Amino acid sequence: MTSLSDLVDTVFRGGPGDRMFRQYPQLFNEANLDNLLVFADGDRVVSHYGMTRRWACLGGCTVQMACAGAVATYEDYRGKGLATQLLEASATKARNDGADMAMISGGRGLYRRNGAVDYGFAAPVHVGAAEAERLHNPSLEARELTENDIDACAALYAGRSSRFIRPVDDWQWFFQSRGVMDSPCRGLAVTDRGVVCGYLMIAEPDAAGASRVPEFGGNDHTVSGALASIMRACGSKTLRFDLQEQDAPLRTALERAGCRADAPASSCTLMLLNFPQLMERLRPWFEARAGLSAARMMSFGHPEQGVFVFACGGGETRIEGRGAAASFIFRPGLEPAKPHPWNRIFPAPSLWYGLNYV
Ligand SMILES: CC(C)(COP(=O)(O)OP(=O)(O)OC[C@H]1O[C@@H](n2cnc3c(N)ncnc32)[C@H](O)[C@@H]1OP(=O)(O)O)[C@@H](O)C(=O)NCCC(=O)NCCS
Repeated sequence: MTSLSDLVDTVFRGGPGDRMFRQYPQLFNEANLDNLLVFADGDRVVSHYGMTRRWACLGGCTVQMACAGAVATYEDYRGKGLATQLLEASATKARNDGADMAMISGGRGLYRRNGAVDYGFAAPVHVGAAEAERLHNPSLEARELTENDIDACAALYAGRSSRFIRPVDDWQWFFQSRGVMDSPCRGLAVTDRGVVCGYLMIAEPDAAGASRVPEFGGNDHTVSGALASIMRACGSKTLRFDLQEQDAPLRTALERAGCRADAPASSCTLMLLNFPQLMERLRPWFEARAGLSAARMMSFGHPEQGVFVFACGGGETRIEGRGAAASFIFRPGLEPAKPHPWNRIFPAPSLWYGLNYV
């Protein structure tokens, strides 16, 4: 069995992998070792496929995600199917361990050939200094986030209707890695008379002074009212938020102040692992959206010969292929329009990585 120190020595020490190792403590820790699948040539690890497993809340329903990342094969071993085999083995392991779907921080052929489709939809919204000043609330202050703020941040994050259900370790690892979604980040707390009422993770500004905000918590007033102070503290000329549907109040506030919003785009890919189990776990969402009697008539079996059946009463919608079924469930704006009652319950809510990116 490969140990974590073998991985560090053979794949991650010294080169770009070393940075990866320090940047993703969620993946690379002793407790997660059995989720790091590798091929070795002798005692040298030559291909790696890592994943974390986390519960997540999607519109009030608890589902289990496998998050895949740090996928790499040494150049001289590429094109031999190693990563493909590791992906298949990871998917089987995650399914056997109870996961409903896999979220992957990539969209290349390797994943798409195996049924991964666009996911993590969010609209980029750009905030300039003038807009931030317009929104400025002088009673809010911004200061550096510390580990003492973890409980307050976790409570704010828990207010999101779709989110990861984080072990406290995920917060602690942020203070170790100081990185979110592949970028070095600072954490800033927003306080009102000393009480934490918001937080923002701010990526280091690029050469043009543009910073990304890969995660934030708090309501539209506490977040938007602190942006001018935060931009000054971070030396950012512009901030880019990626806003989901659940962030509509913040989006409205930013747009009213003159910020530009782009069309929603996907940030990752998603692969269905256990279709009937996922559908059962989403039942509270189906009831909330379609009503008790319609939800009670819905049934979902294991796909047969790659056909996914969405049945309700006497009618059914048959979708061929894992990728098409995942898009039917999660992709916004899919054409042609879905038949009733599926147009009431789909797209199911999207999830955003934030601190859980690997
Ligand atoms: C991506 C990477 C991990 C693939 O590793 P690998 O062991 O060579 O993977 P495989 O041999 O299973 O597949 C490699 C390629 O063979 C080809 N291939 C494999 N099976 C194929 C099939 N059934 N049909 C067509 N092409 C196929 C593809 O070109 C595939 O690359 P793709 O993802 O661009 O489509 C490797 O190229 C790498 O380490 N790249 C740098 C790091 C990186 O980009 N990681 C991924 C981050 S999302």
